Amino acid sequence: MLNGKRVLLIVTGGIAAYKTPELVRQLIKAGAHVRCVLTKAGEQFVTPLTLSSLSGDKVYTDLFSLTDEHDMGHINLSREADIVLVAPATANALAKMAHGIADDLATTLLLATDKPVLTAPAMNVRMWEHAATRDNVKLLQARGVTMIGPDEGDMACGEWGEGRMSEPEDIVLALNAFFDGEAPLKGFSAVVTSGPTHEAIDPVRYIANRSSGKQGHAIAEALNELGAHVTLVSGPVDLADPQGITVKRVESARDMKAAVDRALPADIAVCAAAVADWRVAGEAEQKMKKDGSATPSFETIENPDILAGLSAPGPNRPRLVVGFAAETESVIEHARAKLAKKGCDWICANDVSPATGTFGGDANTVHLVTRTGVEDWPTQSKRAVARKLAARIAAHLNAEGTATKPGGAG
Ligand code: CTP
Repeated sequence: MLNGKRVLLIVTGGIAAYKTPELVRQLIKAGAHVRCVLTKAGEQFVTPLTLSSLSGDKVYTDLFSLTDEHDMGHINLSREADIVLVAPATANALAKMAHGIADDLATTLLLATDKPVLTAPAMNVRMWEHAATRDNVKLLQARGVTMIGPDEGDMACGEWGEGRMSEPEDIVLALNAFFDGEAPLKGFSAVVTSGPTHEAIDPVRYIANRSSGKQGHAIAEALNELGAHVTLVSGPVDLADPQGITVKRVESARDMKAAVDRALPADIAVCAAAVADWRVAGEAEQKMKKDGSATPSFETIENPDILAGLSAPGPNRPRLVVGFAAETESVIEHARAKLAKKGCDWICANDVSPATGTFGGDANTVHLVTRTGVEDWPTQSKRAVARKLAARIAAHLNAEGTATKPGGAG
């Protein structure tokens, strides 16, 4: 909980500084006291007046201001905080922090503080990936500095990639987790399906689809980051197994269902897999050969619906069941119909028509359809979608009460 916590927010000079008024607003709403320090470059993007109006406190900018030094020396500024948050933290700010440079109020404070420091980096993808920044981040992390993000997505400079400052709500969530000393989904178990399924025709041929598994894997990781014990049931994908997660690799829809059933009971189920709706009846035991006669035709049988099975009432029904609706038209209407038909609690509806590049791509546009309404999320990276969904799930379950089935099955 942030109630009563004193946050010293240092705003350095990146375009993402435009998000800091919203960050201050959300921190205050969460019960924190916020005092802001703005660098000279930061002042180019957000004014002291905006931040002081929202924080209800003076904004500090100048190391050599006699008044500031008299009222509140730089040592006191950090002494009177419970935590120091640098958001946005530019590549330059991280470099100065890593190398102990103290040439303005913000960096002097960061060198003088003995309080926990969290940073939300924000910079162009190439600056984030540069060896100098990588080394600085490693050095800072080794000294106990926490990095929040950055996210992937469109950048102000027109490029796409990792380097966008995390959204204010994610930063607030990270601060909450820091103060609670435990992650918001600690004690909760989750099962996540991901990727396509392969339905065999014969020992060498199969029916498949274009799902990459990126979204499902990112969701498993995001739930794990928030402390959940996660079992990821993945169809055949070209992705590495995420760290710290129990991964069950499967081929067919029936294998996937069996692996999901073995992972129950679980508090949370997220079905992000693109499960093949049909399998071939009477899969050939030997490789089918061309013999010059008719081309083969296949009879198909419907596969078990994993999401509908998880959503059915019963002792093993997870407390929250989330499905995806991959649609190419009338996205919301089809998602609403799917929510009702499958009996799940939420549906993440997304447009997967080829023009969107969703299948296999790194970005996704999701509409969260619940029984009470629809939330339209902006187009963002699959990782950002995953973090947002995990945060929503944590907020929902924590509002409902504590975990009832800790641990789950592996
Ligand atoms: N799903 C599932 N098992 C299946 C089919 C789908 O668990 N056999 C899940 C998916 O993981 C997803 C949701 O159901 O969360 C919707 O999948 P989608 O392919 O969009 O819908 P379908 O139910 O297959 O319906 P349709 O193909 O007619 O749109």
